[in-house]
Amino acid sequence: MEKKQLANPPRAHPPRSLHAVIFMLVAASWLIFFQLPSLSPTSFYTKSSHPTNNAPKCPQVRPLFPSHKTPALDAIDSFLQSSDFRNKSIARLSGAVQIPTESFDDFGKVGEDPRWEVFFPFAKYLEETFPLIHATLQLEKINTHGLLYTWKGSDETLKSTLLMAHQDVVPVPEATAKEWTHPPFSGFYDGKYVWGRGASDCKNQLIAILEAVELLIQADFKPKRTLILSFGFDEEISGQDGAGHLAPYLLAKYGHNSMAVIVDEGAGTAQAWGVPFAMPGVAEKGYVDVDIVVRMPGGHSSIPPPHNGIGVASELITLIEADPYEPRLDDENPYLELLYCGAEHAPDFPPKLKGLLGKRSRKSWKKDELAVEASKAGPEIKYLMTTSVAVDIIAGGIKTNALPERTQVTINHRINVGSDSSVVFQKLTKLAATVAEKYNLTLHAFEGKEGPESITLTHRDTILEPAPVSPTKIAKAASPYSVLSGTTKALYGEELLVSPGIMTGNTDTKYYWDLSDHIFRYGPGWDKEQEGLGNIHTVDEKVGVHAHIDSVRWFWMFVRNMDEVEL
Ligand SMILES: *[C@@H]1O[C@H](CO)[C@@H](O)[C@H](O)[C@H]1NC(C)=O
Ligand SMILES: *[C@@H]1O[C@H](CO)[C@@H](O)[C@H](O)[C@H]1NC(C)=O
Repeated sequence: MEKKQLANPPRAHPPRSLHAVIFMLVAASWLIFFQLPSLSPTSFYTKSSHPTNNAPKCPQVRPLFPSHKTPALDAIDSFLQSSDFRNKSIARLSGAVQIPTESFDDFGKVGEDPRWEVFFPFAKYLEETFPLIHATLQLEKINTHGLLYTWKGSDETLKSTLLMAHQDVVPVPEATAKEWTHPPFSGFYDGKYVWGRGASDCKNQLIAILEAVELLIQADFKPKRTLILSFGFDEEISGQDGAGHLAPYLLAKYGHNSMAVIVDEGAGTAQAWGVPFAMPGVAEKGYVDVDIVVRMPGGHSSIPPPHNGIGVASELITLIEADPYEPRLDDENPYLELLYCGAEHAPDFPPKLKGLLGKRSRKSWKKDELAVEASKAGPEIKYLMTTSVAVDIIAGGIKTNALPERTQVTINHRINVGSDSSVVFQKLTKLAATVAEKYNLTLHAFEGKEGPESITLTHRDTILEPAPVSPTKIAKAASPYSVLSGTTKALYGEELLVSPGIMTGNTDTKYYWDLSDHIFRYGPGWDKEQEGLGNIHTVDEKVGVHAHIDSVRWFWMFVRNMDEVEL
C-alpha cells in the first residue's frame, strides 16, 4: 500500500468482565437467531431493513459457503488444511519474497532504467510456481511488467471478478538492512512467520490469489464468470507505469463498469471496543498538494521593508494552521457505519458516543458533535473523518543580505469523505485574500499565472478526489459486499463482525474507479495472535503463515461464491 495508513479503530480496553463478554455473545447470537426471517439455506441476509427506528444499523450477513460441490473440490478443501499444503505455501511465499522487486521513487522509464529488470525473474518465478495457471489462463504483459491474467468464463453476459495485487515492494534502505532480525530478502520461515520485505505488503496477497486459482484449476473448476487478475508493479511509487496502464487497457477491452467486483490489498481485521472487526476498505480520502508562492520586491537587506516575502508567507501559514478543518462524518463515511456496528455489537463501546449516535441528524451539522467526540480517540481516528492540512515544504531566499523575491510553501491535504478539492481551494483562497489585501499584493488563486507582487496558489497534478464509496447496504438481494462479507463469515465464523472501512492512503485501485462501483481494499488473512499490520514499510516486515493460508482459503471460496451468485 502506498504511504500506508489504515483505518485502525481504537485498541480495545480489556473487557470489564468475562460475564459481560459472555452476555454480549449470548445477546449477539440471540439477535442473529431470533431476528432472522425464515430463509432458504443459501440466503444472505440476516435482517431485513425495515424503515423503523429499531432496524439494525449494522446488519450482518450469514456465512456464505459455495454450494456447488464435487469430490475434487472437497478434496482440495481438506488439502488446504494439511501440513503438506502449509509447507508448499510457505515455500511459494518465501520464494516470492526472495526476489527483491523494489520500486524506487527516482525510477526512470520502463525499458531504460535497468532496475526494473528484476521484474523479469519475478514473472518467471510465477510461471514456474503456478504451471496450471500459465497453461490455462491467458497472460498479457502490459507495459512490459504488468501481469494481466484472464480466465474466461462460460457466460459472457456476466460481469467479471477482478482481483488485484502489486508485485513491487518498498525499498529497504541500506542503512536499515542490518537492523532486520532476518535479512529483508531472505523469506526466512521461523516456524510461524515468513519474514521479509513484501511479506505482508503485498506478496502474500498476490501469492494467495494465485494459489487459490491454481487449486481451482486442479479441482477442475470451470468459471461461469470471467476471472481477471491484474498485478501492477509500481504501486509504492504511485502506480503510473503499472496500474496506470493496466486499468485503461481493461477499460478499453471491457468497457465502463464491466467488473462485478474488484478486490485489492487493503485493510484487514482489528479489535475495536472489545470485538474483532473485518474492515474491507470501501472509501479512500482524497489528496492534494497546494503550492503557495509569495512574490515581493527584492533589494538589499540593510534597508528592509517591515515585511518581506518570507514574513508574509509565514503569516499566511500561521492563519492556515490556526484554522484547521473540523471533524465531520458524512453519511457516506464508512467510519459512521463502524460506529453503528460498535454501538450495536461491541461491549466496550463508549456510552457518550452511543448517545450522540442516537441523536445524530444532519441538521445539527454546524458542528458535528459526534465526529468531534469520536475524534477524541486519537489523531489516527480523527483523520478518518477530517481533512488534514500539513505545511510540508518551505523555501525562500537564496543569499544573506538579499531580500527574498520568491517564497514558496507546499501544503499537503488528505481530503475527507464527503468533501472535495474545491472546499480546500476555497478555504485557502479566503485566507490568502486577507493576507494579500493587508500587504497590497495581487492574489492569483488557482488560475495558473504568477506575477510580480503577488500571492499565487496552484495545485499539483497529483490531485485525487476522495474515491467513490462502494455500496455496502445489506438488503434482500445479494451484492458484491454481501458476498465478500459472507465469505469472511464462512471462514472465521459469525463472531467476526464485518464493517465497511476507510483508508487514508491510496492503493492501485485509484486507477480503476471507472471499471466498477464495487471496489474493496481488503486483506482477508486474519491471524488472531498477530498484533498490527506485520511491520509494513519498515524493519522486520513479516506475515503469519496461519493468516496467509486463510487468505488462500478466502480467495478459494470468494471466487466460487462470486461465480454462483446472481447479481
Ligand atoms: C512440513 O514441514 C515440517 C517441518 O519442516 C515437517 O516436519 C513435516 O513433516 C512437513 N509435512 C509434510 C506433509 O511434508
Ligand atoms: C497598491 O499597489 C498598487 C499597484 O500594484 C499601487 O498603485 C497602490 O498605490 C498600492 N497601494 C498602497 C496602499 O500601497
